[in-house]
Amino acid sequence: MSETIDSLLHEKRHFAPPPNFVAQANVSDPSIYEAAEPDYEGFWANWAAKLDWFEPWSQVLDWQPPYAKWFLGGKINACHNCVDRHVSAGLGGKTAILFEGEPGDVRAITYAELQAQVSKTANALKALGVKKGDIVCIYMPMVAELAIAMLACARIGAAHSVVFGGFSAEALRERINDGGAVAVITADGGWRRGKIVELKKTVDEAIQDCPSVKKVLILKRTNQPQDYSWVEGRDCWWSDIVDNQSEDCPCEPMDSEDLLFTLYTSGSTGKPKGIIHTTGGYLTGTFATFQWVFDIKPNDIYWCTADCGWITGHSYVVYGPLANGATVLMYEGAPDTPDKDRFWRIVENHKVTILYTAPTAIRAFMKWGDEYPAQCDLSSLRLLGSVGEPINPEAWVWYWQHIGGGHCPVVDTWWQTETGSILITPLPGITVCKPGSASRPFPGVRAEVYSEDGRALEGAHGGYLVLTRPWPAMLRGIFNDPDRYVQQYWSRFPGVYFTGDGVKRDENGDLWLLGRVDDVMNVAGHRISTMEVESALVDHPAVAEAAVIGKAHDVKGQAISAFVLLRAGHEHDNIVSELKEHVAKVIGAIARPDDVFICGDLPKTRSGKIMRRLLRDVAEGRALGDTTTLADPGVVSSLRNQYEHLEA
Ligand code: WTA
Repeated sequence: MSETIDSLLHEKRHFAPPPNFVAQANVSDPSIYEAAEPDYEGFWANWAAKLDWFEPWSQVLDWQPPYAKWFLGGKINACHNCVDRHVSAGLGGKTAILFEGEPGDVRAITYAELQAQVSKTANALKALGVKKGDIVCIYMPMVAELAIAMLACARIGAAHSVVFGGFSAEALRERINDGGAVAVITADGGWRRGKIVELKKTVDEAIQDCPSVKKVLILKRTNQPQDYSWVEGRDCWWSDIVDNQSEDCPCEPMDSEDLLFTLYTSGSTGKPKGIIHTTGGYLTGTFATFQWVFDIKPNDIYWCTADCGWITGHSYVVYGPLANGATVLMYEGAPDTPDKDRFWRIVENHKVTILYTAPTAIRAFMKWGDEYPAQCDLSSLRLLGSVGEPINPEAWVWYWQHIGGGHCPVVDTWWQTETGSILITPLPGITVCKPGSASRPFPGVRAEVYSEDGRALEGAHGGYLVLTRPWPAMLRGIFNDPDRYVQQYWSRFPGVYFTGDGVKRDENGDLWLLGRVDDVMNVAGHRISTMEVESALVDHPAVAEAAVIGKAHDVKGQAISAFVLLRAGHEHDNIVSELKEHVAKVIGAIARPDDVFICGDLPKTRSGKIMRRLLRDVAEGRALGDTTTLADPGVVSSLRNQYEHLEA
């Protein structure tokens, strides 16, 4: 990260919104920022009023820090707003989901068809015994049925808990048991780089120890022979139960504060947190930000490349776009299958107008070479977005030039699983963009830069990013762990939300995000906690102690570097690859360490705390920082010698 931060802080280039873009933009009047200030509750209430409510709210906001309730007393259904509302408004024939599978199969699903499919799926869930208030786990490939399953849950008032298809059986089990899901929706498998990701098999393994799960609904996606098991009475095929259901399934009126979903994310301890999002506020936040940040128009073909297993997929593949009646493209597979131009072929073939992806992907594309996008017609694009990690200015400018052809604004959007919706972002018709800066808070949102001791810093300053006002899509808590909610987000600086990110504000008030300041890594845009990987390592019988750090990496942003102390007698030639595989098995391939370094000792303070900062210095080849608090300063220099020897 250090290189990124340096280049960020010296970045001086400016990119004004192209005049053609401004001429047609949804918002081009900068006064919207000031207008939202005196009454931010009213600002959000105006957005909420654009949605359909079965019953109006009686109070916009109840704010008892750190607990917020939005649109109190209002009754609403998220699925109704994402589907039925548009069919009633005459948009039934418009494409809602444009799906492309990795093998090349393409399907366009209109809003009317989506309504029928979601209703049938919702009725199938009811037939399987799922009721309002239950939790349903979804573990699927990135196919249209994943979005359909989420909406079907929302339709009947069951909360979904989507688990990314790359997570292991153990990680899946932990998430199912924490929530107490009554059913799992999965597929026989999904396609990834021409191979099958064996989802059903992983579900079988996971739910051996999941007493709450009564039913498993399985989509036949790959239809290839595999050796998963089948439990009569528990397992049923999607085609057997969904297809012959009625297309009539009324939307359940939900309280604005009823649970819409939980989604697990990594925090600074080993145990993932089930982030709670409720219905009315979340939908209002994603609806509003999608409309303004992505400048959505009736004819746009919008593509967000995130998987629905992450918050970006929830908010900006499903709820935000569909609440706006947009056409959303979903792609199942890898960006380099069959070749490194796959994304650009998709843009060309489907005439994608808005593309939202992650810096790690952009850096991979840069590395693969300019010729891949150059051989495709990308002229349909009019707006580009970035999310998930700080974007280095070089990647921003490459994206602008080679993908956007120099005529598409680039919106660098900062937010988190917890925030539910984008909070810091340019608005493409207004903002003069600076590569690497997410610019400023969305109207109605207040972000501040805090010092170590909790003072709000004015003007050009670096510090901790905090949010000092509630916003509708904010998390309502952590599932099963109310204390952790308070302790994790509201205790570092009492009464304000601590994001865990470092930030710098420049002379013009623009914000430059600098990455996490806690023990959370950002590896290829995925949040992984160092402690999660450490506990997976010490779970291996050969490991006595482990310390994990995120090390700067030119494509992934950070790579996972593990320093491991073995138990006596466990050294052998394959131990490094064995440990890497072990972590992949415990958590999932996304957490497989890039390096495992077997060492003789770890640098610790006199009170026994591992000094990760020094390990980062060693791994990134920097001069060692302050070592005076170490119990044994010799440890770190001998570590450095060993490490350099290994790298050479
Ligand atoms: C980081 C993803 C810089 C940040 C939506 C945050 C970013 C974490 C940006 C949340 C950005 C996300 N610039 N950093 N535009 N967007 N981050 O929960 O560190 O997967 O705290 O949500 O990603 O990751 P999460």
